[in-house]
Amino acid sequence: MMAANGIRPALLEIVGLSHTFCHNGAAEAVLRDISLVLRQGELVCLIGRSGCGKSTLLKIVAGFLAPIQGRCLLEGRPISRPGPDRCVVFQEDALFPWLTVRENIAFGLRGRKMSAQSQAVEVDRYLDLVGLQGYGDHLPRTLSGGMKQRVALARVLILSPAILLMDEPFGALDAQTRDDMQDLLLDLSRERRQTILFVTHDVQEAVTIADRVLLIDRDTGGIGEELQIELDRPRNRTNEQFQRYCARLHQWLRK
Ligand SMILES: Nc1ncnc2c1ncn2[C@@H]1O[C@H](COP(=O)(O)OP(=O)(O)OP(=O)(O)O)[C@@H](O)[C@H]1O
Ligand SMILES: [Mg+2]
Repeated sequence: MMAANGIRPALLEIVGLSHTFCHNGAAEAVLRDISLVLRQGELVCLIGRSGCGKSTLLKIVAGFLAPIQGRCLLEGRPISRPGPDRCVVFQEDALFPWLTVRENIAFGLRGRKMSAQSQAVEVDRYLDLVGLQGYGDHLPRTLSGGMKQRVALARVLILSPAILLMDEPFGALDAQTRDDMQDLLLDLSRERRQTILFVTHDVQEAVTIADRVLLIDRDTGGIGEELQIELDRPRNRTNEQFQRYCARLHQWLRK
């Protein structure tokens, strides 16, 4: 939906968010005064040094953790608990090992008013979408890492979440499989205008997929930098401007 002035409305809005963990009685401030807005259909990457709080921020948006301070709104409503409108994909697949691929994908549909037949049709559609036709009856342990992440993706996309939260989802994959998964994610996100908040360590990955990159500064706990990636898609990694974006992000990370 477009507002009259052509600006898409905010889907996720975080205002003045701070978080502190307690370790053996000592407080450790992790996120400090974070404010950000994600608009419908945007793909935003979060990068930052290890321990800066990227996963913590994702957990707060997922509703697994309550921030010490600040507001976190999805479609204008405060986030107070986990919900099917916010799905998370982690680095290590969290598939149920005793369920088949098909059963894993159907898992989130339990409790929805849907006949077994239309559920089966939906699952087939999503198997197809992630390129796993013919693997529906396999158990996860018989799949490669990339295939497992395809199942993990299908399992959340079938729920049509308002926002998809991804925490280094391709971090454990080899380079070629990772490229394939980035392409798949981009195709799916463009087709569905899926809003995505994506955490990565990998600068090239961020510049390949993101509309915008946000850097969390480990020293201050705040958003240190923000970079709009103004490159046509599909993006070419040998392009000079692509490499300039990467160099700039590397420089920030080294600070
Ligand atoms: N449940 C917890 N209890 C106490 N401290 C925590 C907890 N979870 C995270 N932390 C601390 O908060 C900081 C940020 O952790 P977080 O996992 O968000 O970092 P990250 O940016 O995702 O790092 P990485 O890139 O290594 O995944 C770390 O110092 C970590 O030790
Ligand atoms: Mg993390």
